[in-house]
Amino acid sequence: MELKIRNGRLEDLEECFILESKTFPEEEAASKENVEIRLKKFSEGFIVGELDGKIITHINSGSTNQEDITDEEFKGLIGHEDGGKNIVIFSVAVDPIHQKKGIASIMMKEFIKISKEMNKKKILLLCKDNLLKMYEKMGYKKIGISASTHGGAIWYEMEQSL
Ligand SMILES: CC(C)(COP(=O)(O)OP(=O)(O)OC[C@H]1O[C@@H](n2cnc3c(N)ncnc32)[C@H](O)[C@@H]1OP(=O)(O)O)[C@@H](O)C(=O)NCCC(=O)NCCS
Repeated sequence: MELKIRNGRLEDLEECFILESKTFPEEEAASKENVEIRLKKFSEGFIVGELDGKIITHINSGSTNQEDITDEEFKGLIGHEDGGKNIVIFSVAVDPIHQKKGIASIMMKEFIKISKEMNKKKILLLCKDNLLKMYEKMGYKKIGISASTHGGAIWYEMEQSL
């Protein structure tokens, strides 16, 4: 299996939006508009993985000097700063038919590498309790329960210093 990882580009919008909708429940998936904004405004922090020319995974993000990542508007990159010291992951998505094969782990390694190359100090993300262990294995530490109630769920804040 040869996963080709590269930065996302605007032409990927349709595929990335379909992937987002396939992997997240409706109330948690990013809107098409937000996926488009992330591809347009911060493609440096948007990586996709292709298998046989088809996007089967992506990680997208925004950057900020703030520590508070619960702001809903930030998901549409309002408040995003290219040169922010923190990088905030919005989505880690792997096509259901390719899950549990180590793909998210490969993508996260690449995301950490590019974040270091961009001189980011910290990666921040929110996750639900079922994925705490997965992110801990990937090098993240739990900060605590987030103020976010996105999609009506309980979210934990996690961070990784780079
Ligand atoms: C969560 C997700 C990204 C994992 O992708 P993946 O490619 O299947 O993950 P990997 O195969 O690299 O697994 C990494 C580790 O996490 C564990 N893991 C993977 N999915 C898991 C899940 N849903 N619940 C608990 N643990 C999980 C794996 O068992 C593995 O642990 P191991 O190394 O001890 O075997 C993928 O299931 C997905 O896209 N889910 C829907 C979207 C989502 O919830 N994204 C994350 C929130 S932003």
